[in-house]
Amino acid sequence: MHKLVILLLTLEPILCAKDEFPADFLFGIASSAYQIEGGHDANGKGASIWDHYLRLNPALVRDSTNGDTACDSYNKYEEDVSLLADLGVDFYRFSISWSRILPTGYSNKINPDGVRYYNELIDGLVARNIRPMVAMYHWDLPKPLQDLGGWTNPLLSDLFEDYAKILFENFGDRVKLWITVNTNWMGYGDAQFPPLLNQSGIGEYLYVKNVLLAHAKVYHLYNREFRSSQNGQIGITVDGRWYEPATPRDQEAAERTRQFYIGTVANPIFGDGDFPKLVKERVDELSQEEGFSRSRLPKFSREEVEYVKGTYDFFGINIYTTFLTKDVEIEDGSEPSFGKDLKAELHHDPKWPESNSFWLKVVPWGCRRVLNWIKESYGNPPIFITENGFSDRGELDDVDRIDYFESYLNAVLEAIHEDGVQVRGYAAWSLLDNFEWTSGYSERFGLHHVDFADPGRRRTAKSSARWYKDVIERRRLDAPSDTLKTEL
Ligand SMILES: *[C@@H]1O[C@H](CO)[C@@H](O)[C@H](O)[C@H]1NC(C)=O
Repeated sequence: MHKLVILLLTLEPILCAKDEFPADFLFGIASSAYQIEGGHDANGKGASIWDHYLRLNPALVRDSTNGDTACDSYNKYEEDVSLLADLGVDFYRFSISWSRILPTGYSNKINPDGVRYYNELIDGLVARNIRPMVAMYHWDLPKPLQDLGGWTNPLLSDLFEDYAKILFENFGDRVKLWITVNTNWMGYGDAQFPPLLNQSGIGEYLYVKNVLLAHAKVYHLYNREFRSSQNGQIGITVDGRWYEPATPRDQEAAERTRQFYIGTVANPIFGDGDFPKLVKERVDELSQEEGFSRSRLPKFSREEVEYVKGTYDFFGINIYTTFLTKDVEIEDGSEPSFGKDLKAELHHDPKWPESNSFWLKVVPWGCRRVLNWIKESYGNPPIFITENGFSDRGELDDVDRIDYFESYLNAVLEAIHEDGVQVRGYAAWSLLDNFEWTSGYSERFGLHHVDFADPGRRRTAKSSARWYKDVIERRRLDAPSDTLKTEL
């Protein structure tokens, strides 16, 4: 008893109090190129799949808007940098538009204005002591590369490596945190999002395999040619929704769903180098039953397994919400699809607080659980939460957003202090109200309001911006943590 007390007294100042973030914890805020930049064809930029498909079919977006101008950050980046400096963030996570740097997607023609734009943005950040965290790709593939099949084409991994090399050469002297891909296979299995491939049970898996090879190539390229001089870190971002069993009988369905959604991307890099065993077995078996000559799930060769395994410095994860997961029966003879492979139905508890996005309910304990699942599944890798945020209708006194951030950040603190998860940093989504993909401007995620009717796209800080600034300054949460306590 006596010894324990002494031990605790000795450790306490080193470990820091439970409502405090560790001294080296990084606070940031996130955005992505297509959602904020605008300047869709400015000074040599090429078209991305979002430019192309929304031009072709404006009805894909709920309010028939697009990202042609968005927040006009292409022209207003200096003001964005001032907002970031005012918040006091340690880092800014943004993405580079591939087609602004390489208008056709290929590396033979570099657009000098694209290089200028990101140089000025990065210089502005560095001058204000804000570390750039750069995602090389956030959903906006150059249109000509989609004509080759996009991420279903294995050639994409070479083209991505060529593009990444140009980024390292031009920006790697100042950018020390890289995300290769913000992974998201939407549009590969469905027809709701660009690129509208609508090949469920096939497109998703081709996307993942080729993205993983692209990621690994870039990681190895960095090690070969840049790491010794540039000394940065590279990770990939995974969509980290939590899947909770709806009833005790749905444990298996919930774990299966985690493996299909998170494991297919994470296991090859952070686990044993291959798709999860459970995913391979299920898709291989169904493919055979369905009469395919080979599995719908592509194979990793032994060389590829070795090549992809361990290609990370950190685990990037976007965390927003949780789904209850229920096992379902699959009818005999039903069409091949990702949903059939999954054999699970996802829904929300009607008691969970809502946001202004149908898919986003407020479930902070799910944040703690998914962080713990990553820790247990992949040997406790360093984690960056690369997005976490809440949507509303754009009100300036956004108290619901503050409640959301407070409860999720508290779950992060519990994961760090009570569970030993290595969360190194956190990026709130998002700096500005912006173009929320097919929801257009109807769902607002910003800590700053943007007036989209104003040609100047006036930005106004919301209450949450002041709240976040205060948290960053004090590096702790105000609310007594027992009022927020989440269960693991
Ligand atoms: C998507 O594919 C499904 C199944 O093959 C088909 O029924 C549906 O019409 C397709 N949707 C579009 C928009 O092409």
